[in-house]
Amino acid sequence: MDGNGRWAKRRGLPRTAGHTAGEEALADVVRTAARRNIGWLTVFGFSTENWVRPPSEVRHILGLHRKLFGRIEELNANNVRVNWIGRPFDEPGSRTPKSVQRAILQAIEDTKGNTGMVLTVAFDYGSRAEIARAARRAHPLDVDSVTTEMYDPALPPVDVLVRTSGESRVSNFLLWQAANARVYFTDCSWPDFGATQLDEALALVAKTAQPDHGATT
Ligand code: FPP
Repeated sequence: MDGNGRWAKRRGLPRTAGHTAGEEALADVVRTAARRNIGWLTVFGFSTENWVRPPSEVRHILGLHRKLFGRIEELNANNVRVNWIGRPFDEPGSRTPKSVQRAILQAIEDTKGNTGMVLTVAFDYGSRAEIARAARRAHPLDVDSVTTEMYDPALPPVDVLVRTSGESRVSNFLLWQAANARVYFTDCSWPDFGATQLDEALALVAKTAQPDHGATT
C-alpha cells in the first residue's frame, strides 16, 4: 500500500493525512474484494523496517491499525475474518505495543465466525525474517516443512501481488508465498486505489488461469 506520503505531499498535506486516507482506501478495498468473492486478501500494514520512521508518524500508523481492527461491525457485515502475520509478540525483537496486540487479537476473536474473505494484515512483518525463522524450525529442511512453519501456514499461494505508486519492487513481502504470483504494478497511489485498479489486478488472474508449473515460455 505504497504512496501515502507522496499522495499527501502533492496536496500540501502532512504525510499522516496520506496514511489516514490510506486506511479509508483499505476499508473500501476490503468491501469491494469481499463483494468480488475473493478468498484471501493480505495487506502490508507495517514492516519490520518501518519502526525507524519518525515517532509521530509511527504513532499515527499504529493508531490507524487500531482503527482498522476496530471496524468490527463493518467486517462482520461483509463476512470478513481478520487474520495477522508478523513477528510473534512473545519472540525476542517484537516491538508491537500492547495496545496494537490487543486490537489485533480482539479483531481476530470478534470475526472468527465469519466464513467469507480472510483479511490478513502483515504487521511488524518481514518476509526474509519469516523464511529464516521457518527454516530454523523446519525438520526436515524441505519446501513442505518450511511452508508449514510460515507465520500462517494456512495462507495459500499468492495469485496476484499488487504494488502501488509506481514502485516496481516486491520489497520483502510474501516472498515464499508469491513464488508463482502474477504481479500488478500501478502508478496509482494507495489512497486512490479502488475498484477499478482491483479489477485490473484480478484480470491478470483470469487471463492466466493456471499457475506456472515449470512452463518454459
Ligand atoms: C506506505 O506509504 C505505507 C505505509 C508504510 C503504511 C501503510 C499504512 C496504511 C495504508 C494505513 C492503513 C493500513 C492499515 C493496515 C491500517 P509511504 O509512507 O511509504 O508513502 P511514500 O512512499 O509516498 O512515502
